[in-house]
Amino acid sequence: MVSPARRVAFQILHDVEKGEFAADLLFQRTPHLSREDAGLATELVMGVLRYRPQLDFAIQFFGGRPAAKLDPEVANALRLGVYQLRYLDRVPRHAAVNESVDLVKLAKLTSASGLVNAILRKVDKRQLNWPSKSVELCLPEWLMLKWISNFGSDRIETIAHTLLQTPESYVRVPPGNVVIHNTLEPTEVPGAYLVRNEPNSSDLPCRVQDISSQAIVPLLRIEPGMTVLDTCAAPGNKTAQALESTTQVVACDASLPRLRALRTLGCPLVVADAATALPFDRRFDRILVDAPCSGTGTIRRNPEIKWRVRHSDFQVQQERQVRILRHALGLLKPGGRLVYSTCSLEPEENEQVIDIVRRWGITVLETIRRTPGYEPGDGFFAAVLTSQMSA
Ligand SMILES: C[S@@+](CC[C@H](N)C(=O)[O-])C[C@H]1O[C@@H](n2cnc3c(N)ncnc32)[C@H](O)[C@@H]1O
Repeated sequence: MVSPARRVAFQILHDVEKGEFAADLLFQRTPHLSREDAGLATELVMGVLRYRPQLDFAIQFFGGRPAAKLDPEVANALRLGVYQLRYLDRVPRHAAVNESVDLVKLAKLTSASGLVNAILRKVDKRQLNWPSKSVELCLPEWLMLKWISNFGSDRIETIAHTLLQTPESYVRVPPGNVVIHNTLEPTEVPGAYLVRNEPNSSDLPCRVQDISSQAIVPLLRIEPGMTVLDTCAAPGNKTAQALESTTQVVACDASLPRLRALRTLGCPLVVADAATALPFDRRFDRILVDAPCSGTGTIRRNPEIKWRVRHSDFQVQQERQVRILRHALGLLKPGGRLVYSTCSLEPEENEQVIDIVRRWGITVLETIRRTPGYEPGDGFFAAVLTSQMSA
């Protein structure tokens, strides 16, 4: 018998390999589970995705076989088992071993059940000598080398270790609203509260939104009555934040299904590709381009990004980001403010995009960078731009 938590985790790991996002699948597939099972399923999925190279090294060390040579289902059942045996304290040994064996049977790979059983029975908690720095830091070798050159060898350990941790939860309470909740702690970003001792922050009566994400809209300096265009708005966290300051917000996104999440906000919604001319014949006081990006700043909550992203992606992202910015800047009133932001850690999607914009004669008023391990929350970059008269 496989417990609901392990069955859901196993299925999600399989679907993540097909291109889905773990956080989305956990959100969809855990509500019917008990709180304990939902917590365990989340821990297992995120743990396996975060620590994959160390788990694979342990499979090779104790089992003598490279995980890459095993059936994907067998490899995932073993990773789940090794993660429980080596990284978790409260899981009984027999449950970790037996349920991984049952998972391969469930996947109709009964012939591999003996192998899984034999390997997991040998696994213990001894300290292993990792074969490389990239296995120790649980990063692909190329990304680790890139980050060493981006951030310096003195910062890579802090960043990589931070990205292996469970992210803290933050919620948004618009400034001026009263908060009476003993689990919420104010932060340096107005309206952003850290959630303490609340296992399920989505139960709280406020929107869950990372502190770094909440730090972007204030850069627009929106005043009441100003017109605001949000070009890449879904799922609407920053649109909702902009609506705290003015009623004149238009939200645009290329994805109709994603834009549906904004229906309750009560502002005009426009499905449009912001990388081509946008369907507006007027200009805006403020524009937010919260651009689609590689998301490397969110690896703590989306660990599969580490294994999915390719070096060539950053250039492709940059080309789209530049196109979106060019069209958005054409809709900015003279002297208006445009904020460009990404949750990427990569200069190709951040500073290099802004260098291109500077060459168009656009003034860059300010840039900010939030780096995991150095500032709380996800990794973020933002630049405040203005054309002609200063904002
Ligand atoms: C980083 S997310 C935006 C997050 C959102 N601003 C928030 O705070 O909730 C980027 C969004 O850009 C949208 N997008 C991707 N390509 C686009 C394009 N060419 N034009 C407009 N939106 C696009 C995606 O559908 C996605 O919803």
